[in-house]
Amino acid sequence: MEFKELIKDRRSVRNYSEAVPHDDLVSILDDARMAPSWKNSQTYRCYAVEDPEKIAAFREAALPSFNQKNSANAAYIVSTFVKDIAGFNEGAPVNEPGNCWGAYDLGLHDAYLLLSARSHGYDTLIMGLRDAAAIKKLLSIPENEEIMSVIAVGKRAAEPAFRPRKELEEVVKFF
Ligand SMILES: Cc1cc2nc3c(=O)[nH]c(=O)nc-3n(C[C@H](O)[C@H](O)[C@H](O)COP(=O)(O)O)c2cc1C
Repeated sequence: MEFKELIKDRRSVRNYSEAVPHDDLVSILDDARMAPSWKNSQTYRCYAVEDPEKIAAFREAALPSFNQKNSANAAYIVSTFVKDIAGFNEGAPVNEPGNCWGAYDLGLHDAYLLLSARSHGYDTLIMGLRDAAAIKKLLSIPENEEIMSVIAVGKRAAEPAFRPRKELEEVVKFF
């Protein structure tokens, strides 16, 4: 698929027929590792939930009911970053965003992940509405990691609608 087409074809999917198989998920996660990061610090971390019983327990504990419904039949990736590294020097933030740089790097990583998933023929849904404390406990995520999103990955069951974007002039200024 041509890159522009891939970008347009990537949509948030809220209706899945099946979860991504393990080998494809590994390949997608492997692609995502190629994202750039602050001083190549690679502070992104992923927790993949693929076992059907674990998926059921995860959905129940971690997601509000509308996100459970939107991601039914998919597998899940919890994406986190290790705090106090990206944007930090000798334990102190180097400039005003502080740990936002870790979130920035994770966002780049996750964007690669979404596009790789689409290029493998799968779809995704980023879910920012999730219970971080429940996820931390369920997956034994260390205290020094910030949980950001849960990403559903699976096959689309129906064609998703395109969500309109602002005009370029609204979001870009040329000087
Ligand atoms: C940080 C972030 C958090 C999001 N959280 C949710 C969510 O909890 N539930 C949901 O259904 N969609 C969620 N979305 C999906 C957005 O609603 C979606 O990306 C946006 O409407 C644009 O649609 P598109 O992804 O199909 O282009 C989230 C997206 C992002 C980037």
